[in-house]
Formats: sequence, C-alpha cells, structure tokens
Amino acid sequence: MQVSTSHEKWSSRLTFIMAAVGSSVGLGNVWKFPYEAGVSGGGAFVLIYIACILVVGLPILIAELTLGKQGQMSPPNTMRTLAQREGRSSLWQSVGWLGVLAAFMILSFYSVIGGWALAYVPKFISGDLITTNPDVVTTEFNTLLASPAQMLAWHGLFMVLTIFVVARGIHAGIEKAVDILMPALFFILLALVIYAAIAGDFGRAWSFLFAADFSKITPDVVLNALGQAFFSISVGLGAMMTYGAYLPKDVKIPRAATIIVFADTMVALLAGLAIFPIVFANGLDPASGPGLVFVTLPLAFAGVPLGGFFGTMFFVLIVFAAITSSISLLEPVVSWAEEHKGVKRSLSAIVAGFLIWLLGLLSVFSFNLWGDVHLLGMFERFETATLFDLMDFTTSNIFLPLGGMAMVIFASWIMSRETTETDLGLSPALYKSWLFLARFVAPIALLMIFAYNIFG
Ligand code: PHE
Repeated sequence: MQVSTSHEKWSSRLTFIMAAVGSSVGLGNVWKFPYEAGVSGGGAFVLIYIACILVVGLPILIAELTLGKQGQMSPPNTMRTLAQREGRSSLWQSVGWLGVLAAFMILSFYSVIGGWALAYVPKFISGDLITTNPDVVTTEFNTLLASPAQMLAWHGLFMVLTIFVVARGIHAGIEKAVDILMPALFFILLALVIYAAIAGDFGRAWSFLFAADFSKITPDVVLNALGQAFFSISVGLGAMMTYGAYLPKDVKIPRAATIIVFADTMVALLAGLAIFPIVFANGLDPASGPGLVFVTLPLAFAGVPLGGFFGTMFFVLIVFAAITSSISLLEPVVSWAEEHKGVKRSLSAIVAGFLIWLLGLLSVFSFNLWGDVHLLGMFERFETATLFDLMDFTTSNIFLPLGGMAMVIFASWIMSRETTETDLGLSPALYKSWLFLARFVAPIALLMIFAYNIFG
C-alpha cells in the first residue's frame, strides 16, 4: 500500500544540522540535565554523562542517521526496506514501530512539561512569579499542577504549535521554524550565561559542575547518566532516523553527528552555567529535583537585578528548545502516514497531534485527579509512580535503549560493510573505531542498563 518514497529533502547541510540540533536540544538539556546533575552531585555526573555521550551516544547516533539516509523513509518503512535489501526478516520493521510508539508516548508527556514552560512566560511577564517568598512560588507551581483545566489548555497550546509547524512540511514548516528558533535560542542562552556570571556566583557553579567528586559515583548515577544521554541526543526512537531520511546523498554523517552531540552537550552545560550561579548566589538548594527550574529558579531570579526580564527570557528559551524537539517527535508519525496514497500531511499532523494530546491527559491527570493512581503499586519500585512516571520510565529506560540497541546492531552487524564504509566516508582507523564501539561497546553498555533495570 506504500507508494510515495519521495519525501522533501533538507535544503542544505546547515538546515539539517540546525533541525537535528533542534531535536536534541530540548527539555532534556535545560530542565532535566541541570536537575539530574544537581541531585547526583554535580561534577561526577557531568563527567560520566560526557563519557556516555562519546562512547555510546555518538556511535548510535551515527548508526541511526545512516539507517535513515539509506532507507529514506519513515522508521517502519526504512527498517523494512533495509532488512529486505540485506535479505533479513521483515520483523526488523518492528524496530521502526517501537520507535513510532515511543515518539507517540514521549510527545504525550513532553508536551505537558512544554505546557508548563509556556504557562510560565505570562506568569513572569505579569510579575506574579517574581518574589523571593518561597511559599508564593511553590503555591503558584502547585496551583498550576492542581488544575486539570489550566494544564490541559497549556498542553493543548503546545501541541497546536507543534502541529502547525509539522503540518507545513519540511521546507515551509520545520526548516523555517529552526531557522528562527535555533539562532534565537543560542543568543538567549549566551546572554543568560553572561548575566549569570555577572549577577550570580559563577565560581561556585563552575566547581559544582566540573569538580568531580568520585565518591559520588554509584551505579545509579552511571545509569541515569546513560539514560539521560540517550534522551538528550534523541536517539533510539527513529526521530533522528526520520531526519536522516531527508538527507541529500552528499552529506557525511559522522561529522554532522559530532556537531550535533557537541552542540547538545554545550547547551546542557551552558544551561547549568546559567542556572546554578544564581541559585548559589541566593543560597538555594541545587538538588531540588524536577522543581529546580520551576520553583527554585524563579526564586533565584527574584533575588537578582533585572531578574524579571532574564527569568522571562529563560522560559522563552525553554519553550523554543522544547518546540524544536517536539516537532521531531511528531515527524516520524506523520512521515509514516504520508507514505500512504492520498494521505495529506496536514491532516495526518492534526489527527496524530490530537491523539497524542489525548494520550497526554494521562500525564495531566497524574498531577491532580489521578495523583493517587499507582498502576504498578504492587511493585516496591513503582509504589508511588504515577501514570506520568510510568510513561517516562518505559520510554526512556526501556524503549529508547531497546530501539538504540537494535539500530546499532543492524547498522554494524547486518548492513554490509561496503555500504557503511562508503556511506560514512571515514578514514580506515576511524571507521574501525566506530565499528568497534557500535558492535561491542554500545550493545554491552545497553545490556547493562537492562540488567540493572530488571534486577537492580
Ligand atoms: N532530545 C530531546 C530533549 O533533550 C527530547 C527528544 C527525545 C526529542 C527523543 C526527540 C526524540 O529534550
């Protein structure tokens, strides 16, 4: 039933890189990374995180982009075509399906957090959040979480923005959005870091992030860092495979992938350097968890000059980062739908987006009406896990690593060496290093995550 294999292609290498960096730079960098680093003791986590990115993340990203570039279709059809070409079982298609499912689930809760960030922009502009009274800020955040109607509206608005971009296609939608949002994002981030260096305690933030205290490294820290690395560079679910499918033949993947992981890591570190100096300058706790950005940070901004303005900019930054990622989560689904005769992109973006929004209700209600629903409460580990927590856990800790493992195994063991060797265009030594990391190191690291997740 599939007919069209001719998706639009990126207009240039630069737009591809901006879109892929846009996909990887998101809530993972500006919300999750700083708080994960905060609760895991700073420097130790950062060091392990960077090691995970280089040793596991980069080889898998190269593998995933290569699969996309070779297959030129949505993840299920790319995997089917490539398996056929290598004379393998069409069951490989399920890797693509797992990816589409993961994208669906991740976007359903990603858009809820994106909605919080959207809600914070007017709250900052109006001055409601600019107070050094912790009770006021905590109440403000809790009131948002307690109100299904408010959360639904913001989550809905976030999905509408995402659908709008994706519905317009690669050139008129995604490229246009990243052309504007990505430069703006970098500019705002740099301004925030400079501001934090002037107004905050930069020295303390620096040593917090970069002075590694090895006694803080536990198996948990390693595994969190690995999971975070996966999520942050968007690998394992086919978002990058889909972006890779739109690549013109002459773009060399290894260099592009290196730029992507470098930019992603820089943004995560810079976000830390924008947040922690003012958190420390106000004597606040860096280890406050998911509330770091939504509760601790507003308090910190209120304590420094021009905090209202820079606080607003910070939440605009989060929104931009989140939208350039959410479009890459909707794109695999829409790209698959588009491969069917007579299916229009705009309609499939709206339908898929609506279904995702609907699934997002599970996450919205996890913070209020269904806060006490613990589906897996009989297991000690999930005793207090809400539906939101379960979706986050299943996707980040199971689906992404599983998808990443299948993709890296396919690219390094199953695809013919001639294909990858020519396509990657690396020197023999570099090619061998990639092959070694992709064949052995990455799969073994992933097996360790699974073993730990199941038995740990
Ligand atoms: N990488 C994005 C972030 O850091 C999230 C994401 C994951 C986007 C997987 C696409 C695919 O926020």
